[in-house]
Amino acid sequence: MNPVKVGLLGLGTVGGGTVKVLTRNAQEIMRRAGRGIEIVHASARDLGKPRICDTTGITLTQDPFEVVNNPELQVIVELIGGMDQARELVLRAIANGKHVVTANKALIAKHGNEIFAAARVKGVMVAFEAAVAGGIPIIKAIREGLAGNRIEWLAGIINGTGNFILTEMRDKGRDFADVLAEAQRLGYAEADPTFDVEGIDAAHKLTILASIAFGIPLQFDKAYTEGITRITRQDVGYAEKLGYRIKHLGIARRTAEGIELRVHPTLIPHRRLIANVDGVMNAVLVQGDAVGPTLFYGAGAGAEPTASAVVADLVDVVRTLTADPENRVPHLAFQPDALSDLPILPMEKVETAYYLRMQAQDRPGVLADVTRILADQSISIEAILQKAPVNGGDGSVPVVILTHRIREQQMNEAIRRIEALGTIAAPVMRMRLEHLAK
Ligand code: HSE
Repeated sequence: MNPVKVGLLGLGTVGGGTVKVLTRNAQEIMRRAGRGIEIVHASARDLGKPRICDTTGITLTQDPFEVVNNPELQVIVELIGGMDQARELVLRAIANGKHVVTANKALIAKHGNEIFAAARVKGVMVAFEAAVAGGIPIIKAIREGLAGNRIEWLAGIINGTGNFILTEMRDKGRDFADVLAEAQRLGYAEADPTFDVEGIDAAHKLTILASIAFGIPLQFDKAYTEGITRITRQDVGYAEKLGYRIKHLGIARRTAEGIELRVHPTLIPHRRLIANVDGVMNAVLVQGDAVGPTLFYGAGAGAEPTASAVVADLVDVVRTLTADPENRVPHLAFQPDALSDLPILPMEKVETAYYLRMQAQDRPGVLADVTRILADQSISIEAILQKAPVNGGDGSVPVVILTHRIREQQMNEAIRRIEALGTIAAPVMRMRLEHLAK
């Protein structure tokens, strides 16, 4: 059978990696797909730029629309990233009857509903394994491997840059800015690194995971997103002392009232496997009612790990090219007319445990005032840590409190009242704490 002809948009890190993997593993890929897969047309912004791959035999152009309009091609791989042009190109490719493979998490999280609807009309596939956690086949695992389960919750380290920063801060006592600069040099960080450190990149990926886990439409704008920029080396140290590790987690949980969809720094018990996922590595913990906890670990970024997911999608697309569209795996795991309208819960309604750090005046009754406020809000304390005053300081002392689970709304009220005490220096540092057990 003739090889399937593919067009590639973007010849950067992931595009170059994709060409390399497809070329190097051509025989293995053909044995799996049943046909060869050949990139014959590719676009790049700068044709003179040195590449990590050999582009011999590929027609190159600066105009990506030339590729999506090429009638010879059956599949378009979108690896240019960004939003408006990527959306236009993907929709054009679909309108031209082509299947699409993309690694663009922002595009899927924000415009996936529109893109999948268009694909459905045209009977084409849009595959996006590389959009979440790079090389980890987490989309396939949740969508197919766990299809027998009612997924209860998932929690993931889904931004390598953030995890690298937190790991270096903990292990080497390095400063936030210094580690971020290194992550950028190594090519892990997004073009706009605030996407990494403010949790936006993780929220894109979490939005996609929640949709395929619970069968809900993509709702990026309802995700709660908090970054890691306020975490100090002291917080990292206090958490360790109390038996926890700080990870920037994306958490999606099904509750009776709706779906929790939240990205924030989280203390987790240091013995949990996922607490030991360090550096740029990613991991996703998925709790299914039948299977129990499952943990997926691997490289979340980089040329070949991400290419691994792109090529797997290409193989999937090629295998099902001739299948009736109704008999393919649905884009969001559940049949499009069976998506649920469960609401995404506002953060105030989320229930979790907490880490609080405050700077308290060192005199009688201060801690009693704080614990009274917590008690008034029905907040139960799990542990308290008070450090000695620093020599030459203002005589105030850091106090760290871990609480049991409570609604965020009640914690907000408690923090508001603690900050109004006058004996506690505002702001109170708050992080969520999750045990991730059942
Ligand atoms: N900036 C992302 C990360 C790249 O650090 O994980 C992969 O999506």
